[in-house]
This record gives sequence, C-alpha cells and structure tokens, in this order.
Amino acid sequence: MQSITQLKILVGTVTNTAEYVAQAIQMDCADLVGDIEVQLMDGLDISAFDNPDALYLICTSTYGTGDVPDNARALYDSLGATPRFLGHVRYGVIALGDSSYPTFCFGGKKFDERLQDLGAQRVGELWCHDATAGTIAEVDGATWCRQWLSSALAAA
Ligand SMILES: Cc1cc2nc3c(=O)[nH]c(=O)nc-3n(C[C@H](O)[C@H](O)[C@H](O)COP(=O)(O)O)c2cc1C
Repeated sequence: MQSITQLKILVGTVTNTAEYVAQAIQMDCADLVGDIEVQLMDGLDISAFDNPDALYLICTSTYGTGDVPDNARALYDSLGATPRFLGHVRYGVIALGDSSYPTFCFGGKKFDERLQDLGAQRVGELWCHDATAGTIAEVDGATWCRQWLSSALAAA
C-alpha cells in the first residue's frame, strides 16, 4: 500500500496546451488530493521521480517526427542515460497529439515505454487528446483525470 500525499504533474509542451491541461487538473482535482504540483519538465532529470509518496502524471505533447517536446528532452534522455530501478513509481500519462500524424501521441507513449522499462507501474490506460477532435484539451483532460485519480487513490 502506498500513501499518496501528492499528485506531481510533469509537463512537456511547446505551445502550452499541456500546461493548461495540468493547471485545469490542479484546480479541478484539488478536493481529491491535498497537494497538486505542476512542474514544467525543463531541466529535470530522473531524480524528479524520487518522491515515494507522489503519484506522477506525465502530461506531454508530441513534436517533430513523434518526438517529445524540447523542454522534455533532458528528462526523457536522462531516463535512458542514467537508468535506475523506479519500482516505487506509480504514474499515469496524458498524451497530446494530432491524429493526422502517423506518430499520434508518441511523446506520451515514449515516456510510458521508458518508465515501464525502468520498472515504474502505470495506473490505468494512457489517455490521448487529439488536437483535430474539436474538443477542449483542458476540459477533457480534467474530466479524465478526476476519474483516473479517484481510482488510483482508492487502489492505493
Ligand atoms: C510542428 C508540429 C509537429 C507536430 N508533430 C506531431 C506528431 O508527430 N505527432 C502528434 O501526435 N502530434 C504532433 N503535433 C501536434 C501537437 O502535439 C498538438 O497540437 C498538441 O496539442 C500541442 O500541445 P502543446 O501546446 O502542449 O505543445 C505537432 C504539432 C506541430 C505544430
């Protein structure tokens, strides 16, 4: 059993949509967990996953040919370059993308794969937002997160 005292949302973004999603979650889910931290991935490395009492949420878009955003690069590379066992880590993934690309939501999917390789455990399914769907990422993301977070807290 894990006692979750914090939801830590790590944001990878270029044009800020992922950050707006994280901020919407911070406001909308404040009644579910006392401490919700939103942190841009800039300059982070694998030590960002050191808090044993946090539930992590990767919230990232996709750029280039299915790459993580530039501000997420250091953290993503660090998971590969300085790997260590992350068996204590429970996490979810919000992946933002555009389904007109063959690499739909690969940014979030790449983080998911790398975290699983290191022994971290994903809670629930990865959730994708499609920029061409005509839906508002902040609204859908916060709705998804309420459900996801409630289930994760109940299971912890
Ligand atoms: C130049 C460019 C490249 C993109 N490449 C991809 C891609 O390879 N796969 C994908 O699913 N979405 C891709 N997208 C879509 C973005 O990931 C999507 O619009 C996302 O909502 C942007 O979120 P952000 O504002 O947090 O960066 C691309 C967008 C742009 C402008």
